[in-house]
Amino acid sequence: MGKLVGTAVQSSFLGDSRYTGVFTRHFNYVTAEYEMKWDPIERAQGVESFSGGDAIVAFAAAQGMQVKGHALVWHGSVPAWANTLAPAAFRTAFENHIRSVASHYRGRVLAWDVVNEAVADDGSGLRDTVFRQKLGDTYIADAFRLARDADPQALLFYNDYSGEGLGAKSNRIYDLVKSLLAQGVPIDGVGLQMHVTATNPPPDASIASNMRRLADLGLLVNISEMDVRLRDVPGTQQTKLDVQKNVYHSIVGLCVAEPRCHAVTFWGFTDAHSWIDAQFGADDPLLCDEQYAAKPAFFGVLDAFRRR
Ligand code: G3I
Repeated sequence: MGKLVGTAVQSSFLGDSRYTGVFTRHFNYVTAEYEMKWDPIERAQGVESFSGGDAIVAFAAAQGMQVKGHALVWHGSVPAWANTLAPAAFRTAFENHIRSVASHYRGRVLAWDVVNEAVADDGSGLRDTVFRQKLGDTYIADAFRLARDADPQALLFYNDYSGEGLGAKSNRIYDLVKSLLAQGVPIDGVGLQMHVTATNPPPDASIASNMRRLADLGLLVNISEMDVRLRDVPGTQQTKLDVQKNVYHSIVGLCVAEPRCHAVTFWGFTDAHSWIDAQFGADDPLLCDEQYAAKPAFFGVLDAFRRR
């Protein structure tokens, strides 16, 4: 099976023919950038809105594309009302959310990011989130079991950032997924977000070794949210674009070379729509410019998939 080539999408972009023209031509895998998260789905307790996610899933189905749901459990998208609940009530809301959303999209998504960003950045242990505070450390295993029950066919991923190459955080992620497997928890793979800079990306050999050790556990890996910031690359804009191209080429090439890496998803494909600008300041992190013209990065990715 060829690698899936994906992008993050928002339903509001699907009405733009310039956007959908490039999107439908070059991608066969879709991740909802925002609208399948807990907060936008259940803004008020017990009142769910699937309209944004449904629009993305329907568009993908019409185009013969696969979909990855993102993300069932993430501390960055917990509805305000849920934060106020006592532990027992929070557990009920947590379980209802996973069952409801995963069964709503049952059979219509290839995969889910079940738990996102649960490991502390220094690799010292689990991130101290409302899930851990109210449910204990077992919430991660519980989430995977609930997701499997609700959609037995979907591939279930643990997803995180800054754990792409070998290091304290990726070691902790490795230990976490290894222990989940040892407990018989239904997990199918790990997502490496790959939000990197062109000046200092993780070393290729380090990423390749990390992918391989996860694969040796019998897991799938995927690059799940790739973008490459180029603003700090010294030199002309052309130099920045060329350095960025090489980073995309080499990292995507690592997934192409790793048999258990089944997908590469970019966190958007046009600089017209990227979270980076709001978070890190103006940048051009993606494959196409704001006019949807292919940048050198686009051809770096193409060459990587063609093993050139
Ligand atoms: O849709 C509303 C719109 O109606 C409203 O007018 C506008 C202004 O308030 O907000 C829009 O919602 C925003 C949404 O993105 C869609 O643009 C939310 O406020 C904003 O918080 C949300 O940000 C997303 C963020 O996750 C939080 O969910 C970013 O688009 C998305 O790129 C980012 O993605 C995360 C991954 O899920 C996990 N890894 C890191 C990555 C970057 O933070």
